[in-house]
Amino acid sequence: MRPGAIAIFAAGILTCLSSAVLADGSTVLDDELAHVLAAHGFTGRIESTFHAKLGRPIDRKRANLGRLLWFDIIGGLNDDNTCGGCHSPTHGFGDTQPIAIGIDNNFIVGPDRTGPRNQRRAPLAVNTALYPTLMWNSRFAALSGDPFDNRPGFQFPPPEALSLSYQPQLLVAQAFIPPTERVEVAGFDFPGDNYAIRAEVLRRLNAIDAYRKLFGQAFPEVSMGAPITFDHFGQAIAEFEFTLVFADAPLDRFARGERHALTESQKRGALLFFGKAGCVQCHSVGGDSNEMFSDFQQHVIGVPQVAPSFGNVTFDGPNVNEDFGLEQVTGDPNDRYMFRTAPLRNSAVMPAFMHNGAFVHLEDAIRHHLDPYTSARHYTPRDLPPDLQGPVGPIEPVLAHLDPLLQTPVQLSVEQFASLVDFVRNGLLDPRVLPERLKTLVPGNVPSGRPTLDFELP
Ligand code: HEC
Ligand code: HEC
Repeated sequence: MRPGAIAIFAAGILTCLSSAVLADGSTVLDDELAHVLAAHGFTGRIESTFHAKLGRPIDRKRANLGRLLWFDIIGGLNDDNTCGGCHSPTHGFGDTQPIAIGIDNNFIVGPDRTGPRNQRRAPLAVNTALYPTLMWNSRFAALSGDPFDNRPGFQFPPPEALSLSYQPQLLVAQAFIPPTERVEVAGFDFPGDNYAIRAEVLRRLNAIDAYRKLFGQAFPEVSMGAPITFDHFGQAIAEFEFTLVFADAPLDRFARGERHALTESQKRGALLFFGKAGCVQCHSVGGDSNEMFSDFQQHVIGVPQVAPSFGNVTFDGPNVNEDFGLEQVTGDPNDRYMFRTAPLRNSAVMPAFMHNGAFVHLEDAIRHHLDPYTSARHYTPRDLPPDLQGPVGPIEPVLAHLDPLLQTPVQLSVEQFASLVDFVRNGLLDPRVLPERLKTLVPGNVPSGRPTLDFELP
């Protein structure tokens, strides 16, 4: 027998063994996976802990107000963009593009969106209520490791620094930032600093009767005549985000005892994820990771450096075609090219992967990890939109920093690889994020009466 034949023969025996049915109706495979999940602290009950952490029911009036603000360009001083332009319900409230397009766009949200690019892809807003750090380089962080615990402070880059730590949840603080981002929504015409920009957004909101009424219903002091403040704005946005916790995937149901929630292929993929393929070492589930499949730490994984030919953010490096990642926050060259481990729930609805959307197929994003040297050195941006197909930035300096965990290639058979992808794509998908359902959250018109964005269904 050839060695390959022996391997196939051995795999065959293993398959028979692992699908053997035990007395209680489960299989050896089920038992093994249940054991592995328990050993990693995965309970499949994280969504219910969110409601316990919030400690109160969702405030429907605030959440609905937050939803309307999400889709209303009134908060963007350039009068052409808002959260929903980059965090689209057609993609789990994440980007429709490999790299976000903010101001000066064509009002389309989807594959046909055009305009100057920013620097990174907008991650899914779904489940961010459970993240201890936000952004690709974790520059917004709950220092406690718990987004509900503000006692040690919520850290932001200057000028905000620790000044938003009085907010009850990290997302309330986060909502203060996008309206001040000039390339995202604010534009370059309005003079003044972040505080002046927020004051102008509030002036606009306070001038609209429909908003005074909606804020008044959500915040009693406004109905008594008090002005709408940015605390109100942030609380409304965050309350809407609290309604976007969708963390009940087949893997969660399996962990809670529903042994048929995953297919056999997905179970095998899960065992690879938590075992031989090494994914869980960074895409972790225990402790502060809140079962989000991220350690919320930064690593260099050798992602190809995609740079747009038409953009409004100056990239890093001597040829302005690089993204230094964490170094932008810390100023420490040792942190160059480091990015936060991407949380993996609901990856199935993402149109592109990595901080710059370098890959548009989940298979390619996963294959990259198995041998980053080969993947990155052979990369071409041919699957990306035309303005991202230009020359890529330098890759050897990135690979020189590659995380030790990824330096030894992982060998998987074709079948194993397919199982691993099946697990990540389908085993971690909460069907409530699918576009057919989330698109119902798009309002037909918005309280300011301004033009609405045009969403393309995938
Ligand atoms: C121009 C596109 C754009 C707009 C508009 C925008 N965002 Fe984002 N958002 C992004 C990008 C890009 C990132 C990641 C940036 C980075 O890591 O440097 C991000 C990150 C986030 C995150 C953190 C996600 C995570 O996984 O850590 C949250 C939460 C968020 N945005 C909420 C909002 C809200 C709320 C609004 C409106 C008030 C908004 N965004 C407007 C592009 C946008
Ligand atoms: C050394 C830590 C590490 C290991 C091990 C690791 N990853 Fe990652 N992964 C990351 C980081 C960091 C990112 C984000 C990188 C970026 O965007 O620059 C990422 C991104 C991803 C993405 C893209 C998600 C998105 O939102 O764009 C997928 C999918 C993924 N990893 C799957 C896997 C799988 C499957 C394995 C196991 C084969 C694995 N990873 C192993 C650190 C790791």
